[in-house]
Amino acid sequence: MDPLPPFHDDLDAALTEVWRLLEEGPALRRNAFHMPALATVDAHGHPQVRTVVLRAADRAAGTLRFHCDRRSAKAAEIAASGHAALHGYDTPAKIQIRASGPAQLHTDDALAEAAWAGAMAMSRVCYGADPAPGAILPTGDAYALPDAETALTSGRPNFCAVVVTLARLEFLFLDRRGHRRAAWDRADGWRGCWLAP
Ligand SMILES: Cc1cc2nc3c(=O)[nH]c(=O)nc-3n(C[C@H](O)[C@H](O)[C@H](O)COP(=O)(O)O)c2cc1C
Repeated sequence: MDPLPPFHDDLDAALTEVWRLLEEGPALRRNAFHMPALATVDAHGHPQVRTVVLRAADRAAGTLRFHCDRRSAKAAEIAASGHAALHGYDTPAKIQIRASGPAQLHTDDALAEAAWAGAMAMSRVCYGADPAPGAILPTGDAYALPDAETALTSGRPNFCAVVVTLARLEFLFLDRRGHRRAAWDRADGWRGCWLAP
């Protein structure tokens, strides 16, 4: 049987492991936190969940960033509620991470510009889609995408970087010898506590 990981009974080490996985996420396609689920609440108070690509994780700031179309339902839901949550489960590591907090849409500032400049041409094309995401179509193919050159200008107004300033992080590690669950709150200075799994 594998030795227990160093974070099994060490809260600080567990938080470091959480951030190690999150910070690996944007670059590592095989990492579960490359494509976390994003949860929001819609105008009816109902939960909504979907996959996004994690673009940045910053332990020092305690933030996560992803990108979306500002015409999308998720952008409207975040603008209205000001909050979002993200979730991922890494099967090989047997670690679930839940992260939540206030979320802000960046559309026209320096952060948005830098994110747009760093986006791949293939991604930029999606932001020039016509009609807007979620529009009802007469047939499945009744939408148009710009070419990469046109997308540079037609996609930019629809592009939005979303930064979630984490208020809470939660971790669940599954092991037959004893599961471990812990949570950390920004309000607590990320001190953390163990929770019953
Ligand atoms: C693998 C994968 C990655 C995705 N990445 C993103 C993303 O980074 N941003 C985004 O807005 N939508 C992304 N999507 C699409 C969303 O999951 C969703 O279907 C779409 O954005 C509409 O969501 P909404 O109507 O709730 O806004 C991705 C979907 C998949 C399957």
